[in-house]
Amino acid sequence: MQLRDVQLGDVDAYVRMRCDPAMMIDLGGPLPREGMEDKVRRDVRSAESGTQWIKMIVLDEADPAVPAGTVTLWSHSEDGEEMSEIGWMVLPEFQGRGVGKRAVRELLELARADGRWGLVHAFPAATNAPSNGICRSLGFQFLEERDVTFADRVLKTNHWRIDPRAALN
Ligand SMILES: CC(C)(COP(=O)(O)OP(=O)(O)OC[C@H]1O[C@@H](n2cnc3c(N)ncnc32)[C@H](O)[C@@H]1OP(=O)(O)O)[C@@H](O)C(=O)NCCC(=O)NCCS
Repeated sequence: MQLRDVQLGDVDAYVRMRCDPAMMIDLGGPLPREGMEDKVRRDVRSAESGTQWIKMIVLDEADPAVPAGTVTLWSHSEDGEEMSEIGWMVLPEFQGRGVGKRAVRELLELARADGRWGLVHAFPAATNAPSNGICRSLGFQFLEERDVTFADRVLKTNHWRIDPRAALN
């Protein structure tokens, strides 16, 4: 498996991930198709500047232009303090094969080597069993249930946290 930066050619993968009702069922439903080119352009700029790590998951056997999903690490301000957050998505044909877990582990290992991210938080939807499975299985600590705003929707999530410097399962 490789993680590569998002590219302008990833619009199709974004549409399949973000505009699909099944993929977005735990994230408040599909996003509008028309915003996706702009979203990819913004993400490419953020990835190039290094302010966010927006990685596409590429499986060894697959064409690098055809991603299996995405894993992202970014930082935002919460009550005046910087907080690092990780999120992920895996396309349906690659789900249930450990791809999400391996990709999250790999990005956390990069974060450990980089050293600037500190503790990393994740907020999977409370109803998303595989996403919570990734947290549990990699050794994230469960902190609390929390309402989180994503794309103008309020989601019921589980708040998990991990120190990438600790051993990852
Ligand atoms: C959630 C998602 C990222 C999971 O990715 P995946 O590659 O299918 O997951 P994995 O195969 O790596 O499985 C992760 C862990 O969850 C466990 N798991 C999977 N399905 C599960 C279920 N229904 N109940 C409990 N645990 C489950 C797996 O057993 C594995 O743990 P293990 O290694 O200890 O066995 C993927 O299904 C997805 O993108 N779904 C749609 C979009 C989405 O929900 N994104 C995240 C929003 S919070």
